Amino acid sequence: MTIRAAQRVTQIPKSAIHEMTRLSQQFEDVAFLSWAKPTSSAPIHIRERAAEAVVQGHTDGYSTNAGLLELRQAIVKKLRRDNGISAQASEVIVTVGAIEGLTAALLATVDPGDEVILPSPTYSTHINQVLLASATPVFAPLVEDQGFRLDLDAIAAAITPKTRAVLYCTPSNPSGTVFGEEDLRGLAALALEHDLVVITDEAYEYFVFDGARHFSIASMPEMRHHAISCFTFTKSYAMTGWRVGYLHADEEWIAQINKPHIACAICAPVASQVAALAALEGPQDCIVEFREHYRLARDRMCERLDRLGGVFEYQKPEGAYLMFPKILLEEGRDSKQFCERLLREALVSTTPGVDFGSTGEGHLRMSFCVPIETIDLAFDRMERYFL
Ligand SMILES: Cc1ncc(COP(=O)(O)O)c(C=O)c1O
Repeated sequence: MTIRAAQRVTQIPKSAIHEMTRLSQQFEDVAFLSWAKPTSSAPIHIRERAAEAVVQGHTDGYSTNAGLLELRQAIVKKLRRDNGISAQASEVIVTVGAIEGLTAALLATVDPGDEVILPSPTYSTHINQVLLASATPVFAPLVEDQGFRLDLDAIAAAITPKTRAVLYCTPSNPSGTVFGEEDLRGLAALALEHDLVVITDEAYEYFVFDGARHFSIASMPEMRHHAISCFTFTKSYAMTGWRVGYLHADEEWIAQINKPHIACAICAPVASQVAALAALEGPQDCIVEFREHYRLARDRMCERLDRLGGVFEYQKPEGAYLMFPKILLEEGRDSKQFCERLLREALVSTTPGVDFGSTGEGHLRMSFCVPIETIDLAFDRMERYFL
């Protein structure tokens, strides 16, 4: 008898980010720009409050599946204040990071064979989540020379009778684009016309620069039944390892999304929920500090890319902490090979663009969520290597 794994998993390629991490570990002193994760620790008041709850034995049981009521009430306040979303606690599920929320949302909305439109290049995990739900990812290219702007015509052209959902992240991983309000209103009109669900990943909601504004599509009252919005504590409060996020949808969707949520997680870790409550109730200065650091780091990366001249062409990101330069050299057509060579020969680790869908081929993703010195080290090495 031959035991074989299910096609829904075998079809998923190895993660290039993990592959680059594994390869990087074979070398010493790599200038590492591959990860999109905060390098600092969560603020101390968050850790202390969770630690106290753990010591007092308040975190040993399950919470209700949807999460601690006090936390959901705090989330409701935040959604009103920062996202313009008018919500009830019964419309929120606390999830194991944004990732579990997105997976549960897809499992609740698509049937096998349905199509999900992904404006792309897009976050590689979104592609894999669609595949895991036995649906088909359909890529609608972004307009690269307009800063990877949403292309409503491309999205409209991608809609077929099988389309059930559109899934996007803004600010975007990998390009750092902040989708404009007008474009998102246009997308909402398409979703309403074709009865599609819009699933959003707003992980980088607070990291926008140069006056750009983050717009939550669920703030439009008419999108009430058509939007499922996923958020996280990972980026805003540097709480990557706590694995806590949340989603908002109307109560009918929540009843359905709760089923895969229970099957995958039962509830989010309770110690992490206490930490999340501390994050929402405490000072918000860390968000401002992180944003300022990312802006400075972005500016430095752009300056250094300019100095490299004809190697890359880039769109200056207005958000997140990632950028997605196009490789101008002939050998850049195969981004995976290019990326591996850059690591082996120049000790700079990036992520191949092909990981973010076929429209990402010929690009590299570079993270500026690193100390400025790491950016300088990486670009000093690239200057020696390319120039
Ligand atoms: C766009 C995007 N969404 C979600 C995540 C992960 O979020 P979480 O840690 O909340 O699961 C990441 C992490 O890099 C991301 O870039």
